[in-house]
Amino acid sequence: MIKEFFNHPLRELNSFHVEEQADHIIEFDSAEDLDQIFGKESSPKKWYALGGGNNILFTRRFEGTLIKPIGKTIRIIEEDEESVLLHVEAGLEWDDMVEWAVEHGLWGVENLSLIPGTIGASPVQNIGAYGAEAKDVIERVNFFDTQDCTHKSLSHEECRFAYRDSIFKRELKGLCIITSVEFRLKKTPQPNLGYGDLKAETEKRGGATLGNIRDAVCSIRRSKLPDPAELGNAGSFFKNPIVEHELAEQMRLKYENMPIYPTADTQKKKLAAGWLIDQCGLKGYRQGHVGVHERQALVLVNYGGANGDEVMTLAHEVCSKVAEKFGIDIEPEVNVL
Ligand code: EPU
Repeated sequence: MIKEFFNHPLRELNSFHVEEQADHIIEFDSAEDLDQIFGKESSPKKWYALGGGNNILFTRRFEGTLIKPIGKTIRIIEEDEESVLLHVEAGLEWDDMVEWAVEHGLWGVENLSLIPGTIGASPVQNIGAYGAEAKDVIERVNFFDTQDCTHKSLSHEECRFAYRDSIFKRELKGLCIITSVEFRLKKTPQPNLGYGDLKAETEKRGGATLGNIRDAVCSIRRSKLPDPAELGNAGSFFKNPIVEHELAEQMRLKYENMPIYPTADTQKKKLAAGWLIDQCGLKGYRQGHVGVHERQALVLVNYGGANGDEVMTLAHEVCSKVAEKFGIDIEPEVNVL
């Protein structure tokens, strides 16, 4: 089923809660609805697939059609002794799937508890937290190709996942609408507690059960990250920069306590953008309606009434300060429209 809205306010459709409008919004329920939306002469020319609006910054009126999946079904499509394969529709909130998995004793997404956003958005930027990434459990992504109006799917390998990256942010950007994702989850315990204080927080709760890990992740996130329902934000505004190994080593000599993380490529290291911004003295910095969050410098917040341009002005200022102090360019993780 399709629902249409015209000249619609976006405030409640983006977690930054910026005050912009869209010409047209189409909500669709099942993948087949897209045949109807794109299969006619009046099909949308300028469009953008909108998930939960958690990783987006509108800087102006959206003069086109926002296409929003609202199907939320979870189905088990394969099961053996060790694992199940879930087919999940794009419109489901990511954390509702995590809650469902934990309740059903399925391992693999518990570290990704409470990440805001929808299932359909999860493969695009390969969401990640606490040593886990969506790519670890994604087996297949199903989508509608708006170029030839056909339904297609890509295997895990074809999605070309990397840190906060996939083919959907590259070759397929602006060309496809993800309609469902297939996740392989495990029936036997696979705790992954290596990141930061996750192990200690889980042990405090009585050990590595699915429920305890989920509780621990939720509690760490709530203590560090602002709730978008209370304070507009889009989670990490910037990506953690990936730099050459030599540069990371040179910086380590100068800044002893600088966090450095390995990457799949041994020649490259990941630095913590939050740490770099914090070192510039910007944590808690406020400029009019917007600011750098006081507990996590990676997050920009809307104190109320901000428009997208104000957020971008602050983002540019943060980038220039980091470039000035460290000679490192950080870039937004958030999609700017
Ligand atoms: N740090 C500071 N000051 C700050 C923020 C961080 O010194 O203001 C330091 C921390 O002490 C730590 C390091 O920087 O040593 C890294 O910080 P943290 O563990 O909080 O993780 P992050 O790199 O800031 C990433 C993800 C988050 C995810 C966390 C936990 C990115 C861009 N962000 O943040 O994802 O929740 O790891 O795994 O990779 C998101 O994408 O929206 C998001 C919140």
